[in-house]
Amino acid sequence: MTEPTSRSIDPSAPDAPDDAPAAPAPDARLRTLAEIHTAIWQQLALAAQDRSHVWRTPVLATADADGLPDARTLVLREVQPAARQLTLYTDARSAKVLQLQARPQGRLVCWSPALGWQLRIRLAMQVQDDGLAVTSRWVRLRASPAARDYLSPLPPGAPVGGAPPSPAGAQRHHFAVLQGLVQSIDWLELHAAGHRRACFDAAGDGVWLTP
Ligand SMILES: Cc1cc2nc3c(=O)[nH]c(=O)nc-3n(C[C@H](O)[C@H](O)[C@H](O)COP(=O)(O)O)c2cc1C
Repeated sequence: MTEPTSRSIDPSAPDAPDDAPAAPAPDARLRTLAEIHTAIWQQLALAAQDRSHVWRTPVLATADADGLPDARTLVLREVQPAARQLTLYTDARSAKVLQLQARPQGRLVCWSPALGWQLRIRLAMQVQDDGLAVTSRWVRLRASPAARDYLSPLPPGAPVGGAPPSPAGAQRHHFAVLQGLVQSIDWLELHAAGHRRACFDAAGDGVWLTP
């Protein structure tokens, strides 16, 4: 577990501030927007490498065909801080892919009790279902148990009659890569000494906001 625990906080703190743990030493909190922005990206990069990091499984929200909200948990697979890019994997036939092809905007939401941090990341999304981005990753994936996730003969969400179909024998994969370019990050810190919120734009410039 690589998340720092020195700033642990009760997630119910906003509703029950009296229950929040005693404030840590003042210097335990990051002070500047630049420090916070750097730490956000460090934690995102850690999350893509560390299966136990809670930001490993954020929630991606999209808009459906009626403009209504949809959301689901995904694994954060790759993070490229310099390119401000987040990468997720999915089945090319899934509802989220259709939604993102129609409206290529997403929101990724992460919450870390250890950090006391929530992120709401606005993403410009790109779906890649062929080409080098897909084949290079599929070469690595196909020998792993995770390959099964992309070999189902039926699309995700398709009704099945009796027993679920076995993916055994399926030859064709439906692996797709979702690339998200970070457009803004809304950061919220819950803390016994006072909550803080800031928004960082695509260039990484931040402004403090009322939590
Ligand atoms: C912990 C967890 C991790 C998941 N990781 C992924 C993932 O990396 N990619 C994916 O397509 N679905 C993943 N899922 C399944 C999705 O949450 C969702 O059920 C599925 O992708 C269908 O979503 P859709 O109908 O909105 O496209 C995960 C679910 C859980 C609970």
